[in-house]
Amino acid sequence: MINLKYTNQKLLILDQTLLPNEEKWVEIKNKEDAYEAIKKLMVRGAPAIGIFAGYCMAIFSKDNDIHELKKYLDSARPTAVNLSWATKRIVNAFENGKNLIDEAVAIQNEDIEMCRKISEFGLSLLKDGNGILTHCNAGELAASRYGTGLGPIILGKEKGYNFKVFCDETRPLLQGARLTSYELEKAGVDVTLICDNMAGYAMKNGLIDAVLVGCDRVAANGDVANKIGTSSAAVLAKYYNIPFYVLGPYSTVDFTCKSGDDIVIEERNSDEIKEMYFEKPTALKQTRCLNPSFDVTDNSLITAIITDKGIIRPPYNINLKEKLND
Ligand code: MRU
Repeated sequence: MINLKYTNQKLLILDQTLLPNEEKWVEIKNKEDAYEAIKKLMVRGAPAIGIFAGYCMAIFSKDNDIHELKKYLDSARPTAVNLSWATKRIVNAFENGKNLIDEAVAIQNEDIEMCRKISEFGLSLLKDGNGILTHCNAGELAASRYGTGLGPIILGKEKGYNFKVFCDETRPLLQGARLTSYELEKAGVDVTLICDNMAGYAMKNGLIDAVLVGCDRVAANGDVANKIGTSSAAVLAKYYNIPFYVLGPYSTVDFTCKSGDDIVIEERNSDEIKEMYFEKPTALKQTRCLNPSFDVTDNSLITAIITDKGIIRPPYNINLKEKLND
């Protein structure tokens, strides 16, 4: 994987906060390093956090109570369900006397397989030459091979499709600018970076045929928590009659959340808005900021949810259960 390596009993991650300017691998030596790596977004993207947490649980449960370790790691980022889903899998493996590293490797390999299937289903909805808008980063860096939201684009490239991708820079942490444009450039995909508030311009001017995004938690009624700003793109897509597709593994659907109102949204430090990627602060120190890391896209705005088990269309409260609980 391009974001994580486990070799000779050492766990290394590519520090995504430094991209695209520096490709630095960092060793994760203990549970505190693991917590910090998730919290600071050195490793980020829902599936990638789950894969990483699987390895951390397997390695650091040798020196820590596994249940305490799970609670500790889960608390680093609450919104993406993949984190607690993966840590739970390792706890179950422990209780069933399984080898925990093997289980972490299985989580990773399954993700590669799921991303491939998601990419194939997604690609079946696109045409060569399509203009595609994406938000945040849902590629290989955020998952495993192919990614979720970017999966159809990367797979399409391999099969000779030429898409024109527009990526929102994704304020405040700029995952679109720093990570998506970097990944797509490397893959040889035609990519254009736009500010988040240019999505309406791009749609009005006929540059966008479909919107593809990943997801962090899908509620039973099809409401989706995703990177802040995604719901604005969804509203615009509805207005301009452009399909809005959400892509993610089956494990992202959380049937314990009836609707988006039940999804806990992570609040992050206001420095990220005013200071983090600027040479000088862009507002006064005392100016209050509101910095939710995710927002919830209402299911009425979503054309289809594309999982490894197939393409799911409304009504989601019926079709998600039917497709995923079989
Ligand atoms: O805060 P991040 O960078 O972890 O947020 C990532 C996203 O919102 C992704 O789009 C989402 O996790 C889907 S990842 C395939």
